[in-house]
This record gives sequence, structure tokens and C-alpha cells, in this order.
Amino acid sequence: MFKWMKLGKFCLMILLGACSLSSFAEVPKVEIFSWWLGGGEEEGLQALIKVLKRQYPALEVNNASIAGGAGVNAKAVLQTRMVEGLPPDSFQVHGGAELIDSYVKTGMMEPITDLLKIWQIREKFNPQIIELCSYRGQVYSIPLNVHRGNVLWYNKKLLARYKLAPPTNYETLLRACQVLKKAGIIPLALGDRNKWEATHLFETLLVQELGAIKYNGLWKKQTSFNDPKLRIVLERFKKLSQYVNKNHAALTWQDGTKMILEGKAVFNIMGDWAEGYLKTLGGEPGKDFGWVALLGKGGNYMIITDTFGLPKGALHRQGALAWLKTVASVEGQDIFNPIKGSIPSRLDANRALYDPYLRSSMDDFAKLTLTPSIAHGSAAPFGFVGALNDLLNTYLVDGQTEVALKSIRQAAHDYLE
Ligand code: GAL
Repeated sequence: MFKWMKLGKFCLMILLGACSLSSFAEVPKVEIFSWWLGGGEEEGLQALIKVLKRQYPALEVNNASIAGGAGVNAKAVLQTRMVEGLPPDSFQVHGGAELIDSYVKTGMMEPITDLLKIWQIREKFNPQIIELCSYRGQVYSIPLNVHRGNVLWYNKKLLARYKLAPPTNYETLLRACQVLKKAGIIPLALGDRNKWEATHLFETLLVQELGAIKYNGLWKKQTSFNDPKLRIVLERFKKLSQYVNKNHAALTWQDGTKMILEGKAVFNIMGDWAEGYLKTLGGEPGKDFGWVALLGKGGNYMIITDTFGLPKGALHRQGALAWLKTVASVEGQDIFNPIKGSIPSRLDANRALYDPYLRSSMDDFAKLTLTPSIAHGSAAPFGFVGALNDLLNTYLVDGQTEVALKSIRQAAHDYLE
């Protein structure tokens, strides 16, 4: 029995290891599915595909991206394809609940633990990130990056003009917003056409008020959704909404973020893909725009990780393996991340290639408690995220705190218990 198991493992190793072009049986192809099509996102992906093409020149790449920030459209298409048994060869998926609950527990993904062993790279990755890609001892996807969610971006010149220090918490942010509104400028840019952007703002306020430990407890059933702080956070969210641009519901996240570079608004709370975007628009970090983390008690790093895995039944499995190898490579990570505004998940990346913002993010990542993002699928399953997106967008319109609170508790009951 043991012998057969060993033999099976040996065959698997040969299969998994077969990634050189000579091993492709037919025309080597790969379909890569993501939502990196919008301003600032596409550039990173294109650069990574260039590395892939350099590493595998004969590979035919089908970049099957579907527009819409945070995968608002792509995720729906993906779910249909997965259920119908027509998976892309490899797809973008957030580490954490989104990967594990939707695709791993349902038996739709191949474990890639052996692949990491054969390529001798498992130890090269940050173990906490690998944890987000793992279930019952097996790894199911390769983390390409680490994004930070709880960042306040600001127009440096405007902040100086109004003699304001960068706010670091809700109270100082509110005070700055009051001053700016009086001065006739939009304090806080928001583009929440796709709903998740409001949830992003909410979770930033939530972790700040709860602190990292209590926030993380929400997802481990150690913190109750009846905690009185939830009401405080909702009230703060409502209060801040008085300081955002009136047309927020018509704008995408890019539209909102761009407002600070154009000097139309002073602040924007957004994940650090905003940094990648501002750079592609010609903005210089530290000169045209500044940043500060809005921290929960004791400090926290709101984590989002974009990963790629191997769905069962992928049409071009060998192409997918080639792609995964590029995603996992230092070269791939060091090309993609400085453009995308994220930091590498590999520990041996070349820090010198990253700008001052990204280096500060690396330092914080190394020392702060990680808190998984709700809006970006790491903390909670799809059902909860969808319900929260909906109720917060209703709340922005009707301002009914007790109703919103009840709906959050109901969503927790429906999807987290
Ligand atoms: C996140 C994703 C980022 C970025 C962002 C905006 O969910 O992890 O890589 O794409 O959405 O679209």
C-alpha cells in the first residue's frame, strides 16, 4: 500500500514538474481570469504577462479580464463558470474566505502543496499569507501580492494650504473634514458605484474602533455582533458621509481616488491599489500625494491578498502551471507589485525596487497585527459581504442606524454561524 502511495506521489511529481515548453502536448495556451482591466490595475498584469511570455515564449496567453473594481462583475461570471464546470485555467481569487469557502470546500480546486515542494519555494513565502491560501494542511493558491486596505490618501499641497496635519484616526479626520468643508473644498472623495467601496470605508472605521484583536474575533465567533461599538461605527460612517462628494454613487473607485490628484478633494480612503493608480496617472508618492494608515488599537494592517490557483478540470493545465510558476517567481512578483501598489508575498523579494510608500507598507506588514478585509473577501464568505454591501449602501441613503444594525446582525446570523 505504502509502496503504491509512493509511486503515485512520484508520478504526480513528474506531472507537476513538467512545466517546460517541451512538455506541452499541443499548442501551449493559458486563460488567465482577473478583473485587472481598470486604470492602474492593467499595467501590473500586462507587465507580469510579459515576464510569463519571456519565461515561456511559445505560450499563447488569453488575458480574460472582466472590468469592475474588486471583481464586482468578474466574480459573478467566475462563479457561474465554476458551477458549470467550465473553469478558467487560473483565476484571481482573494486568499481567505473567498477562496476557501467558495472554491476549496466545494471541491473545485486542486491542492498545489506538492507543486510548491517540487519548486522548492514553500519556505520563500510569508507563512501568514500561505495560511490564507490553505485548508486542512493543503495549499490551494499562490499569493501574488499583499495589499493594505486601511490607508488614507491625501493631496499634500491642499493639506498644507489649509494648515492641517495628516489625520490618523476618526476624530482628527472628522475635525479636518469640518475645516475643509467650511473652506469650500470637498473633504473626502468617495466613488461607491459598485457598493464595495462604502464597505471598504466602513471596515476601516470598524477596525479602528474595535482594535485588531476584537475585529479578528468577529470572524472567530469571539466578538459578538451585539457589541455596542458597532453602533458607534455606523454613526461615524454616517457622519463622515456628510463630507463626501455628492456624486459618489455615480463614481468608481478610480474616479474617487483621482479627485485627490486633481485637487478636487483632499482625502480618499482606499486600498493601496490607489497608489498604483495614482502613479500611472503621473502622481509622485510623497510629493503629489501622501498617505497615513488609519490604525485600530495597537496597530493593524488590513490585509488583502490576490492569489491564483489551479481549478479542477482546467482545459490547459500545463499552461496554468507555467503561469503559476511565474506568479510564484521573485521576478514576477518584483515586476508586478511595484506597479500595482502592493508588496510581494515572497520574503526574498528585492526591497530596493519598491518606492517609499511600499517600503513603509513592508515595514508595517512585518510588525503589525493582520486584519483580513471584509470588502475584499478575506474575512467573510460572499453571502455576508453581499449583504453588508447592500445594507451600507441603503444606510448611506436613509441613515437609519437601528435598521442597519439589525441587518448586520441578521447577515452575521445567516452567513457566519
Ligand atoms: C481588490 C483587489 C485589488 C484591486 C482592487 C480594486 O479586491 O484585491 O488587487 O484590484 O480590488 O479593483
